[in-house]
Formats: sequence, C-alpha cells, structure tokens
Amino acid sequence: MEIVAAADSDERGLTLLRVVSQLQRVIVYLHSFACDRGHLWSTQSADARRTPIMSDEQICKKDDDVSRYFTSPPAPLVKEICEELILSQENLKEVCDVLHEELNKGLGKDTNPEAPIKCFPTYVRELPNGKEKGRFLALDLGGTNFRVLLIQLGEECSMDSRIYAVPQPIMVGSGDGLFDHIADCLASFIKERDLGEELLPLGFTFSFPCKQEGLTKARLARWTKGFKCAGVEGRDVVELLKAAIARRGDVKIKICAVLNDTTGTLMSCAWKNHNCRIGLIVGTGTNACYMEKLEKVELWDGELDEPHQVIINTEWGAFGDNGCLDFIRTEYDNNIDRESINPGRQLYEKMISGMYMGEIARQVIIRLVAEGLLFGGQSSEILEEKGSFFTKYISEIESDKDGDYNNCRVILEELGLNSATDTDCANVRHVCECVSRRAAYLAASGVAVLLNRIQEESVTVAVDGSVYRFHPHFHNLMTEQISQLIKPGMKFSLMLSEDGSGRGAALVAAVASRSSR
Ligand code: BGC
Repeated sequence: MEIVAAADSDERGLTLLRVVSQLQRVIVYLHSFACDRGHLWSTQSADARRTPIMSDEQICKKDDDVSRYFTSPPAPLVKEICEELILSQENLKEVCDVLHEELNKGLGKDTNPEAPIKCFPTYVRELPNGKEKGRFLALDLGGTNFRVLLIQLGEECSMDSRIYAVPQPIMVGSGDGLFDHIADCLASFIKERDLGEELLPLGFTFSFPCKQEGLTKARLARWTKGFKCAGVEGRDVVELLKAAIARRGDVKIKICAVLNDTTGTLMSCAWKNHNCRIGLIVGTGTNACYMEKLEKVELWDGELDEPHQVIINTEWGAFGDNGCLDFIRTEYDNNIDRESINPGRQLYEKMISGMYMGEIARQVIIRLVAEGLLFGGQSSEILEEKGSFFTKYISEIESDKDGDYNNCRVILEELGLNSATDTDCANVRHVCECVSRRAAYLAASGVAVLLNRIQEESVTVAVDGSVYRFHPHFHNLMTEQISQLIKPGMKFSLMLSEDGSGRGAALVAAVASRSSR
C-alpha cells in the first residue's frame, strides 16, 4: 500500500529500503533466537556458540584501541543502534579541547558570569601534611543519605558514623525542612555519643554547586541530583544550618569549613599521598576539583600570599549546558534531560553519573524491544517504568564472566522478563557496556584536561563515588583512555580515596585551624 502511494521514485526506494530493513531485523532476531533455542551449539564453548551470530570483527568498536573492552557480541542491528553511544578518539579529543576552553571561561573574571562551568575557588589553599590531629565532627550531605561522623585524626585514627535517610519529600520540600532534618540528625548523634559537653570543630561537606565566599561561607548556586528545596538557592548554607541549630537550641557547634565532596576526596588522599592534585567523584553526580595556580584564577578575590594556589571546584557536571556538547548527545540524553527535575542543566553529569546511567540503558533497551530486537518484541510492565533499570544493574551485568549471563538473567527476571535468551542477554550486556564505556571515557577526558593543565610530571587523582567503586571496569577504562589523551611523558594514577566526605571534611577543618593560627 505504502509503496503504491509513494509520490516519486526516490520515496518509493526509501520505503522499500525500510521494508527490507524491517524484514532483516525479523530474520536476525529469528536467527539468533534459533541459535539460543536450538541446541546446535550445546556441546561447544560459549565463544564457539556465539561465532555464528557475530564475528569478532563485527563486534569491534569504531575505534580499534578500545574494542577489546566489548565482551559481548550483540546482534548486528543492536550494534548499529548502539553505535551512537560509542565515542571515537576524535570525539574525545574534541571533548577535551572544548572542556579546556570552557574551564578558561569559568576562571575568567569577565567570562565567568555566562560560563556554565563555574570553577568556584574553594579557599582551600594548603594540602594536609599528614601530621593533622584532633577530634572532629563532619556532616555529609550530597545524595539520598545524610551522614554524621566523628573523626579522630593523628597516630590513632578512627571514624564513627551514622547514616540517616533523606526522605524524598524532604529533598523537594522547603529549605527549612531540610536543614531542620540535618539539625535533628546531628543532635541525635551528639546525644547518642554523649558529645554534648565538647565544642568539636565541624566540617560540613555539602556536595552541590556553591559559590564560596570564604572557608565557612558557601552560597548554593543551584540544586542538582534530584534535590529541589525551596528558598536555598542563592543563600549561604552555613547560615541556614546555624539557623536550624539555633531553632532547636540544644546543640553547640563550631563550623570550621564548608566543602564540596571533591575537595574532601582530594584532601583525604593528599593526607598520605603528596602527589595528589585532583579530586574526582563519579557517583550519583559527577564533579572534579584540582589545585590551580592563583595567577590562572582571575576570579580570585582572596589573599595573594603564599601558597600561590587554591583548589578549584570546577562543577564540571554543567559542561555542555550551553550546547557545546550537542555533537555527542543522543536522543536518549535528550529524553533523560527533558524528564529530569532540572532540564537543560548538568548535561555532562547526565551522560556520566549513576543517577542517570541506568535510565539511559533502559531507554536504549526499550527502543530495541520496540524494534523487535530484544525479548521477541515483548516488554514488561516494570521495564516500561521510568527508573526501573538501576545503575547498579549495569555493574552487576558487566560483572558476569564473558559468555555467562547469571546476573543478567536474575536482573531481567526482576524486571519481569522471564524468558530472555542468551542472545537477549548478550544484547542487554552490550547496551550496558556502551553506556558505561561512554561514561568512563567522558570522565577520563575531563581528568586528562585537568592533568594537562596541571602539567606536573606525576599526579595522583583521588577518586570516589559508587560508579567508580562498583563498576568492574570503570577504573581500567578510565586509565586506558586518560593515557591516550594526556601529553606525552606525564605519569598519573587513579587512587580510590577512602571517605573523602568524612575524613576530608575533618582535614579541611584541621588545615583551616592550622592556617588561622
Ligand atoms: C554536584 C557537585 C558534586 C557532584 C558529586 C554534582 O551534582 O553539583 O557539587 O560534587 O555532584 O557529588
């Protein structure tokens, strides 16, 4: 019908092509289904079994250097659809060039107001020397949980902490509601640990973009990561915390520092590792900070004395908010952004971090199902629900040994997909690999830019966050890609930083009291 109705021969040709392509899809699906169901290869190894479906050459990514990280052989049409998630070396180099420029804009006095990457100076200018000691309190707010910590630094180090949930209504309620909740948790911790009599120095890790106006003054620029409490943007969060504590009237505290989790991560690692210059988070959100020379920070309005450096909280999650990353963004990224609580904001973060990775994978999977390339074209109610494919599923699926789909099958069953074939599993795994590799390579590009700016011979990058911690290949993928993008002769290592938001907060408070003596 359609062919007859087509107005001219070009259109007819196109329609024919579409029909052929649909037919091909059906044939490929039936073929792969037969490979799984038929016991044709049942006595062969998993690798041998896969060969008829896809050759190794076919599963290669566009870029040979990184092809070996793709373990599962997707069906050709699945591979084709996922192709737009695969970034070439040229793409990544361009991302680096653009990021370098955007960081310069953030650091420039005249360009900063319009720049998406804000490059906030943190007022932390000294790194720990390893000799810091004392008892500290720390507060850590940055995700769905809030933590209170008691930290002992010195010969004997210890940490005692308690996690409190931040219920969803509080995340999107009033600012006073949020800070009252924080004050309640702090008060109950102090009471439980019997710390009422001591006036302990406190470091407040507040992991959202803040314009710092000093070590103890930080104005929230805007909420990220699903938070949207009214009346906080533009306000000093230390003042809001103090006011909430005053409303209770039963707790005494001495706030010595407010910091971002990236700063805490850098400080925590720098405590023992004196090459540490970068702090990176790839968790619910993503961000990085680095030690910059004062002469490069036109924005700097603090003292010009020694040391001539300051940690810059880049807030790189906002990279791309002016459209400069559109050349690599896909329809999935657009969908995620459109449906988010902060459309048009944090576009780089939305391609990298744990809050979004699972949903990107789900969007791709849904498309493959709709095209008849997965699960025989049959979706499930759970899979259709936004947010049902958790980011941790990606780590779990990629933790399956190559050719073995145990975790994948369990997860698909949790999603109500009970009759997935091996080919379905291989295809789902391929989707996960594309999403996580893209995230790792984008984060790696960011780190490479910072390393190239710092230009020290050997730099340690302190890293934390659930994606980096739990994804089985994230560390290797990042290391591999950073090596490709940095200037020749530079050395670096990525180091898991233990508890930056807690110990890092104590160290900032300790260094702050050392500097002010
Ligand atoms: C926030 C940053 C934070 C990062 C990691 C982002 O959404 O804007 O301040 O460092 O998440 O927690």
